[in-house]
Amino acid sequence: MILVETVGELRNHVARARQAGQRIGFVPTMGNLHAGHIALVHRAHELSDFVVASIFVNPMQFAPTEDLDKYPRTLTEDREKLTAAACDVLFLPSVREMYPHGMDGQTRVTVPGVSEGLCGASRPGHFEGVATVVSKLFNMVQPDVAVFGEKDFQQLAVIRKMVADLNLPIDIEGLPTVRAEDALALSSRNGYLGAEQRAKAPELYRHLRRLADAIQAGARDYADQLGRESAALEEAGFKVDYLELREPATLKPATADDRHLILLVAAYLGQTRLIDNLAFDVN
Ligand code: PAF
Repeated sequence: MILVETVGELRNHVARARQAGQRIGFVPTMGNLHAGHIALVHRAHELSDFVVASIFVNPMQFAPTEDLDKYPRTLTEDREKLTAAACDVLFLPSVREMYPHGMDGQTRVTVPGVSEGLCGASRPGHFEGVATVVSKLFNMVQPDVAVFGEKDFQQLAVIRKMVADLNLPIDIEGLPTVRAEDALALSSRNGYLGAEQRAKAPELYRHLRRLADAIQAGARDYADQLGRESAALEEAGFKVDYLELREPATLKPATADDRHLILLVAAYLGQTRLIDNLAFDVN
């Protein structure tokens, strides 16, 4: 695997692959890679011939109160995992390479609608930071296809809309959430959990499952159901940020007419904010 730190070097390698007729796949990450990220790299290999991954902990998508400084950085292990997954190029830009004139005057990308509410409400500016860095990365790599995890479902919706609205010639591929054996969604932030919290964390998905089962079994009083399950999560020791039922294509609140639904949750265990989601259909 070739490691590059500048946009110039990156472009040279990608240009050579493209001249050789290869299709370019891209997996953007913030590092601290787990099996979920590696599944994205494998999928990128299925969809392209030359796979670029990036590791960049993007300061623009963290609020001053968030975990930018303590976000886990594990470059040695990440490089080993990407090499084992046959990634062709790892792009590792510095903050200066990404934002040479600083972040204050940086042109930004705002994606209306899908970036509002849910994590967009609890993390103001987060999706603007994500859309800005992803559009910069897309322009740097110029991939044919980019692969993202469905665990960050709202992020995926924001990127899909950005790509459509800006006519970017990139296929966006979403991959189902990879889970631990006990069904906890894999996340770099799981490493913040203490042993007791880690044992409790899978309950988040169990609550989603129970709520989806109730709705599929005919419970259509969505507000009551969400309120009850939210209270049950609090009872179990989570501090619920949001628990919502949405229509997955638009992320608008679910109506009685919607057949495709998605439950989305964000909840704290101690200081650690976990997110998860569950898509399902009703008759
Ligand atoms: O999902 C992530 O790891 C980040 O939000 C992304 C897409 C790499 C942008 O910084």
